[in-house]
Amino acid sequence: MKQILFDRVSKSFDGERAAVHRVSFEVPAGSLVVLLGPSGCGKTTLLKMVNRLVEPTSGRICMDETDIRSLEVTALRRQIGYVIQQVGLFPHMTVGENIGVVPQLNGWKREQIAARVAELLELVHLPPEFASRYPSQLSGGQQQRVGLARALAADPGVLLMDEPFGAIDAITRASLQDQLIELQQRLRKTVLFVTHDVDEALRLADRIAVLRRGELVQYDEPCALLSRPADDFVRELLNADDRVRQLGLIRVEAVMRPLPPDFRPGVLPALESSADLRTALSLLLQPGVQALEITREGRPAGVLDFEDLRSRTCQPLQ
Ligand SMILES: Nc1ncnc2c1ncn2[C@@H]1O[C@H](COP(=O)(O)OP(=O)(O)OP(=O)(O)O)[C@@H](O)[C@H]1O
Ligand SMILES: [Mg+2]
Repeated sequence: MKQILFDRVSKSFDGERAAVHRVSFEVPAGSLVVLLGPSGCGKTTLLKMVNRLVEPTSGRICMDETDIRSLEVTALRRQIGYVIQQVGLFPHMTVGENIGVVPQLNGWKREQIAARVAELLELVHLPPEFASRYPSQLSGGQQQRVGLARALAADPGVLLMDEPFGAIDAITRASLQDQLIELQQRLRKTVLFVTHDVDEALRLADRIAVLRRGELVQYDEPCALLSRPADDFVRELLNADDRVRQLGLIRVEAVMRPLPPDFRPGVLPALESSADLRTALSLLLQPGVQALEITREGRPAGVLDFEDLRSRTCQPLQ
C-alpha cells in the first residue's frame, strides 16, 4: 500500500502537442483511482510514467514521498503489478508458470511458488487444476484473471491496470468488476485503473481523475463528480443528468454515514457496503424501514437513510 503523487507531470513525444500537460493529483494509499477520458487523452501515458515505461518531460512522480526517479527501475517495478488489455500471458508457459514468473525471479523456492499459485488461483476464483493448463486453453475472461493473479504474485503495493476488461463481453466484465471490488476490499492495494467506460469508472472508483487532451479536468469522488461536474465536458462525459442509471452504479460505501456513537447492531435491516444504491433504495422504500445498517464482511460499518442517499447523489436544482 503506497501513496502516489503526481506533481505537475508533463510528457511531450518528439515535439508534438503535449500528451500529458501539468497533471497534479494524489492517489491516497489503499484507494482505487480511475483515470477516465476519451481516446488519446493521455491515460496510458500517465500510467506508464508510474512504472517508468515512459519518462516525464517535466514534473515528478513520488511514491510515499520518494521521487521515483531516485529508485532503480527494477526495484521500482518490483513494487508495482501491471495488468493490460492484451493480457500478455506467455503462451508456452502453463498458467502456474505464468503466475509464478515474478516470485521465481525473486528466488522463491519451488514449494513456496506452488503454494502462492494455488492461493492466487483461489483469490481470482479459478479452480486449482488450471495451474497446469496453457493460456490458449482458457477463455478471455479467465486469461484476464490469470493476468491479475500474475500481477499480484509478489504482493506489490501498487497495481496499474490499463483497460484490463476492455476486450471482454459485458456479462463477464461485470463479474470481473465485482471480483475486483471484493478483492480490493480485502487487499487494499493502491490501484490506478484506466478505462474510457464511464459505468465501469463509477462502479469501481474511490476517486476519478477525468482527463481531456492531456489535462486533468476534475479529480473527485464519483458522487461529487455527478453532483458537481466541473464543466459541460464532465457533465456530458458522465451523463450526469441520468440519476436512475447512477443509482445502479454507485456503491453504498460511497454515500453511507459513519456509525453513530449509540449504534446498536442488528436492529436495522443490513446491507453489504459493496451493494449498489438501487438495492439500497428498494430496501428503504419498504414500509417501516427508516435506515439501513451497512456492513463490511458482516460487521457494521455505517448507516444509510433516504436523506443521505438523496443529498449525496443528487445535484441541487438550478
Ligand atoms: N510512443 C509515442 N510516441 C508518440 N506519441 C505517442 C506515443 N504514445 C502516445 N502518444 C500520443 O500521446 C497521446 C496520448 O496517448 P495515450 O496512449 O496516453 O492515450 P489514451 O488516453 O491511453 O488513449 P486510448 O483510450 O485510446 O488508449 C496520443 O495523442 C498519442 O498519439
Ligand atoms: Mg490507452
